[in-house]
Amino acid sequence: MNSTGKLPDWTEGTKLDQTDPLAMARDLFFLPEDIIYLDGNSLGAAPEAAIAAVNNTAHNEWAGELIGSWNSAGWFELPSTFGGIIAEIIGAASHEVVACDTTSINIYKALHGALSLRPERSTIVAEGGSFPTDLYMVEGVLASNSTSKALLEGVDGDQIETLIDGETAVVLVNHVDYRSGKVRDIAALAEIAHAHGALIIVDLCHSAGIMPIELNSCNIDLAIGCTYKYLNGGPGSPAFIFCAERHLADIRQPLSGWWGHDTPFAFEQGYRADPGIRKFLCGTQPILSFQAMRAGLEITRQFDIADIRHKSRQLTGLFIKIVEDWCDKYQIGIFSPRDADQRGSQVSLTHEYSYAIVQALIERGVIGDFRAPNIMRFGFAPLYLSYRDVERAASILKEVLDTELWREPRFAKVSTVT
Ligand SMILES: Cc1ncc(COP(=O)(O)O)c(C=O)c1O
Repeated sequence: MNSTGKLPDWTEGTKLDQTDPLAMARDLFFLPEDIIYLDGNSLGAAPEAAIAAVNNTAHNEWAGELIGSWNSAGWFELPSTFGGIIAEIIGAASHEVVACDTTSINIYKALHGALSLRPERSTIVAEGGSFPTDLYMVEGVLASNSTSKALLEGVDGDQIETLIDGETAVVLVNHVDYRSGKVRDIAALAEIAHAHGALIIVDLCHSAGIMPIELNSCNIDLAIGCTYKYLNGGPGSPAFIFCAERHLADIRQPLSGWWGHDTPFAFEQGYRADPGIRKFLCGTQPILSFQAMRAGLEITRQFDIADIRHKSRQLTGLFIKIVEDWCDKYQIGIFSPRDADQRGSQVSLTHEYSYAIVQALIERGVIGDFRAPNIMRFGFAPLYLSYRDVERAASILKEVLDTELWREPRFAKVSTVT
């Protein structure tokens, strides 16, 4: 019951849940009964099989077989093995994707790699409102490449297209914006970049696992992304990097560690890069994290991505539909696109006191997050959320606003991770 004593009308959610082809996926995850988890766009839920896999690797492979597991358990091949599974999810060929390192590190490799393919050009074009690590890595690349410069959408011009010209070496964009959840048309942007002779790198952190992605059909040159959000790979799980086959032979990446060597166990003195996608590896990879990630990838692969996208649109649409009935009353703005085609799997709301509202919601069992300066983000992971969850979450949000629970001083205390 809500604070006005009126029972919310939950018939729509119940009806949608009854015909949801993904309903059974929820049982594959550990989810506390009393929470509604709307933060899968930050850290996905734990698949039950992931815990079993980590146990198996720790007990049988590490403790049991010790160093022999590099061969017997296929540890050395895991970056390629998982790269192959991720390739299926992002519309690439298995020899074009490798799982490794972090998204940030892979952005650095991809940017340098793109510059190595366009040595006569000097400009990197990126989004001024990009997830900050992308921009920080651009700065890092510029610091080690004094002839290059960056142009940022929103700082140097309004539209990213207007910044691309014959000087542009590479364009770096996010597929789905981390603040608003807006989807970028990467196929159209790739066409523009290529018409100017530039390359395009796409950050897939907020799209991998929740929508069909066709990197090769869209002619994308390089892509990177994480696996700990909608792919449910676990905290700090390995990221991935995609390089289109047409660039594999010539591209160079700067972190020339031994795992990217053509023959790592020949222990040669000089560096000779692997001719294929493994040239993007650097050093020894975190095997326990790799094994934890397996379950999340397998679960995503097991369901139809068209069903996942459909449900993602419906979940976010239902939340917006409920909230927009009363958002003006509480000075709440809807920051995410209302058009489902343009929306990822999150809904972002704005309010002057978003931080405190999110903390009050967390206390009431609805887990979202806050992004500066005034955004409440709610991620809707189609594999473990029901339509009833959406209705309950919206109704708890309304209660928090009605009762002004968020004004309690304890909700103003800012934690390190928001
Ligand atoms: C769009 C985007 N890129 C990159 C990252 C983070 O990269 P890393 O895995 O290196 O921490 C995030 C993290 O939330 C992100 O949202």
